[in-house]
Amino acid sequence: MFSILRMRSTIINRIPIMSGSPSILILGAGELGTAVLEALSAHPKRTGGKLAVLLRQSTIATQDSAKKAQNERIQSLGAELVPGDLANDSISQLAEVFARYHTIISCSGFGLPAGTQIKITQAILEAGVQRYIPWQWGIDYDVVGTGSAQDLFDEQLRVRALLRGQSKTGWVIVSTGLFMSFLFLPEFGVVDLKARTLRALGKWDAELSLTTSKDIGRMAAEIAYEPGDVSHQVVYIAGDTVTYEKVAGLVEKRFGGQWTKELWDEETLSGKLREKPGDGMIKYASVWAAGRGVAWDMEKTINAQRGIELQGLESYLKDMPGFK
Ligand SMILES: NC(=O)c1ccc[n+]([C@@H]2O[C@H](COP(=O)([O-])OP(=O)(O)OC[C@H]3O[C@@H](n4cnc5c(N)ncnc54)[C@H](OP(=O)(O)O)[C@@H]3O)[C@@H](O)[C@H]2O)c1
Repeated sequence: MFSILRMRSTIINRIPIMSGSPSILILGAGELGTAVLEALSAHPKRTGGKLAVLLRQSTIATQDSAKKAQNERIQSLGAELVPGDLANDSISQLAEVFARYHTIISCSGFGLPAGTQIKITQAILEAGVQRYIPWQWGIDYDVVGTGSAQDLFDEQLRVRALLRGQSKTGWVIVSTGLFMSFLFLPEFGVVDLKARTLRALGKWDAELSLTTSKDIGRMAAEIAYEPGDVSHQVVYIAGDTVTYEKVAGLVEKRFGGQWTKELWDEETLSGKLREKPGDGMIKYASVWAAGRGVAWDMEKTINAQRGIELQGLESYLKDMPGFK
């Protein structure tokens, strides 16, 4: 009897007991990082659990009033500011910081030098972080495959290979489709409000999945605090999956008036890329025009499976201010 009790207490002692929610470090606090922090900080299942945001020391000590206000906002949401430079710090410098947290959510990637996402992942693995949600908010890179028009996506696949090649660090890749706001960037091409032009990338009846950054934040918090059996896997979320035809129809309905319609197929975009080989936006648009890995059925999304309603395109358009 005594030995059974002793065995039991030994087993119990070995189980890492986590009091409250896990500690979470968010890398970057731009549009996405802020949305993730807001959702984490407000999540009903959060019980304690430290929140922190990694930013460059120059950003933390900024004299710029907009950045100062942003730093104050981060702190008002209960997160501490942690200095670190994703582009310039070494793997071991980053690993030293990462090791202090249970979960790392990366919300920084645009504009960082090639190889940074690999370096961050190596630091995550070196630190032995328990769970990593990488900067893979986007399309289904496994389906896109290597050698796409957007060279950055090959690095995303190498990050997946690193994560899949080990079992110690849990990871969740959240495929979000296109950020809803991207649909309205004139450089991306689909909806150019000022030029009153609507475009299809590839084909008018091709589909694309869309999620707002606020909803990406909500789902990231959901996965962080209510993971269920979600681990070591790619999951899908979306507020809407629509054809370019549907996008055009909804924009016309919302704003009225005359619109020019154009098709940017793969050939058109290859021509544009030959003229401007370094243009990241044309590279993006070309991947959407190829039409692989950019859309999934709503039933496949974890928001639909968990009965969580996210904002669709029609509702997003309703919230948009009118324009002249
Ligand atoms: N699938 C998609 O369509 C997709 C995917 C991702 C993002 N997006 C879009 O891309 C745009 C950018 O969004 P975002 O929030 O990802 O990026 P962001 O607004 O550029 O923010 C990046 C964050 O990382 C920080 N940062 C930059 N360089 C750093 C470094 N070397 N070390 C540490 N921190 C650093 C920035 O801080 P500083 O203030 O110091 O610069 C900022 O807080 C948004 O419009 C979003 O909608 C679209």
